Amino acid sequence: MSVPVLSPARPRYAAAPGPLPRTGGEAASIDDADIQLSKEDFALIAGIARDQAGIVIRAHKAAMIRGRLLRRLRALNLRSVRDYCDLLRGPDADAELPQLLNVLTTNHTAFFRERHHFDHMRAHGLPETLAHAARGDGRVRIWCAAASTGEEPYSIAAIVNAVNPGRNLDVRILATDIDTDVLARATAAEYSREVVERAPADLRGLLQCEPAGRDTVRIGANLRRLLTFRQLNLVQPWPMRGPFDAILCRNVMIYFDGPTKKSIVDRSFDLLRPGGWLYLGHSESLSPPHPGFELIGRTVYRRR
Ligand SMILES: C[S@@+](CC[C@H](N)C(=O)[O-])C[C@H]1O[C@@H](n2cnc3c(N)ncnc32)[C@H](O)[C@@H]1O
Repeated sequence: MSVPVLSPARPRYAAAPGPLPRTGGEAASIDDADIQLSKEDFALIAGIARDQAGIVIRAHKAAMIRGRLLRRLRALNLRSVRDYCDLLRGPDADAELPQLLNVLTTNHTAFFRERHHFDHMRAHGLPETLAHAARGDGRVRIWCAAASTGEEPYSIAAIVNAVNPGRNLDVRILATDIDTDVLARATAAEYSREVVERAPADLRGLLQCEPAGRDTVRIGANLRRLLTFRQLNLVQPWPMRGPFDAILCRNVMIYFDGPTKKSIVDRSFDLLRPGGWLYLGHSESLSPPHPGFELIGRTVYRRR
C-alpha cells in the first residue's frame, strides 16, 4: 500500500560558521568509535526534531542520538556527523529530512500494550460505540495516532473483530505515524512469532495469525481489512474531517512540549464526537484537566 505523505514547507537550516571539513567522494570505511557528535551538530539535529516533528531531545540523549545518526552515516557513506549536518543545511536536505526523522523517532510498541485500554474497549468502549453507530448511520471510526510498526492498530482491530464478529457495521481504523519505515512494516502485517508470543495468551488468538515466513506470521485478513495506514505528522495540520468515535494517542506526547501536547488534545477534542473516547499513554494524563473531557479510567477519557 502506498502511504501518502504530507509535505509541509520546511525551514532551511543555516550553514555552520566557518569552513566545514569535507571528505573525498571515496567509499568511507567508518570506524564508529571515531565518530563524534559536537554540541553544535547536536543542536542542529535537536532543532530539526523539534521544528519538524515536535520532538524535544534533551542534551542527556546525545549518546543515543549519535548512535542513531550512525545509521544514516552508513547508509550515505559519510565519514562524520559534520558532513551529515552539512548535507542537512544544503539543497538536498528535503530528501534527507524524512530519513532523519525515521531514525530519530522511538518506535517501541507491543500487541495489547497497556492492556487495560483493550479491556476497557472490549467491555465498554466498543459495545457503547457499536450501539451508538447502530442507532445512527452504522459507521464506526477509530484513529490510532502513533501506530508505529502496527501492533497497536492490529490490537484494536482484534478487539473490534471480537466485539463485532458479524461485521454488520461499517468499522474503519485509521492508523498513522510520522515514520515511513514503521508504516511500511505495519502495512506488511508480518511479525516474528516471538513478537506475537509476547502478547497476553488469552488475547493472542484474536490476532488470527496465519503462517507467513519460516519464523513469521501474518495478521489475519479479517483484521487487516479494517485498517488504513497513512503518514501523518501530529504537529502539522490534520486532514481528516471526523468525527471519530475513539482516538488512541498513546506514548507519543511524552516526546512533545506542553503547548504541542495541549494543541493535540484540543484538536482531538474537536475531532471526536460527543461521547467519543480518548486513550492516552500511561504517563500522559491530561494535566491540567481539559474541561471537555471526563476521566473514565486509567488514562481513558470521554468527550462530554
Ligand atoms: C513509542 S512509539 C508508541 C507506539 C504506540 N502508540 C504504543 O503506544 O505502543 C511512538 C511513535 O510516535 C511516532 N511519532 C513521533 N513523533 C510523531 C509526530 N510528530 N507525528 C506522528 N507520529 C509521531 C513515532 O514514529 C513512533 O512510532
